[in-house]
Amino acid sequence: MLEQLRELEEKALHELEDVNSMEALDKWRITYLGRKGSLTIILRGMGQLPPEERPAIGQAANQLKATLERAYEEKAETIKREETLRQLAEERIDVTLPGRPVGPGFLHISTRTLREIYAIFAQMGFQVVETPEVETDVNNFQLLNIPPYHPARDMWSTLHTTREGVLLRTHTSPGQIRVMRMYCPEPIRVILPGKCYRYEQVTARHEFMFYQVEGLAVGYKVTMGDLKGVLTNFARQMFGAERKVRFRASYFPFTEPSAEMDIDCILCKGKGCRVCKYTGWLEILGSGMVHPQVLRNGGYDPDMYTGFAFGMGPERIAMLKYGIDDIRYFFANDLRFLQQFA
Ligand code: DAH
Repeated sequence: MLEQLRELEEKALHELEDVNSMEALDKWRITYLGRKGSLTIILRGMGQLPPEERPAIGQAANQLKATLERAYEEKAETIKREETLRQLAEERIDVTLPGRPVGPGFLHISTRTLREIYAIFAQMGFQVVETPEVETDVNNFQLLNIPPYHPARDMWSTLHTTREGVLLRTHTSPGQIRVMRMYCPEPIRVILPGKCYRYEQVTARHEFMFYQVEGLAVGYKVTMGDLKGVLTNFARQMFGAERKVRFRASYFPFTEPSAEMDIDCILCKGKGCRVCKYTGWLEILGSGMVHPQVLRNGGYDPDMYTGFAFGMGPERIAMLKYGIDDIRYFFANDLRFLQQFA
């Protein structure tokens, strides 16, 4: 039996010398050390030995097992090291390979539209002022001629905060009050861009968050003619010099008189199509002469001062300009949409 073990050791170690890969090494391990390997078979046969011989054979067998296991570990080390060396020698990093392109960032379509709007109004002397998105009920409604009981509140579905009388502004119009109180008694020519929030069911035409650009001009002799001139100029720069415009009487609590401005449909040029709902016209903004009470709330004496104001949605402007049929694309952050405006 001892002889058998010695032969096994010699055979195994001799064979191991020719092993050069992990696969071959694994085969070797299974042959000699596996559950059905030669050594295991010998150890199983120990039961037939006379009891007095067992301890010596057992010890020798365990020693052989340890020897083979150590030999296995060493060989595995060697193979791995050789493999690494071979890889280092053969596989070079090709530093001339071009990298993956990283494109430059680009502006969001809303930002781009806002900047176009700023540029047009800048030419007419309007300066940009930003006012808070979290507003008081007083600024957002009451000082704009919309008292708590006023049915016009239904025009703005409001997101309230847990603090009584504090809400997310539903439009940029409260900025009018802030700017008037900031500049009174100076004349004013500002646009007020920013985010607005409404408690809306989100649909193709409504978002719960969107931008607005408010405009406000206050002075000694500001007239409805100024309003029409400024907004007509804006529409033609934004949508093309050939645009026709029309002003339609409307109602807003903070302006009197109030008007909505339409442009002739840029798609069908006024003939009538799906986009303009076969009217030939597209509504682009609300406007009017600042209500005397609103001027007073801003600190201006309505007997001396007059003003005009307007409000528009840049997303709506971009939708008309680029033929986008769903406002939800703007803030869904799908690059396939956004990259079209890169
Ligand atoms: N604040 C109005 C809205 O959100 C838009 C608007 C209409 C603003 C007329 C104005 C204005 O300044 O004069 O629907």
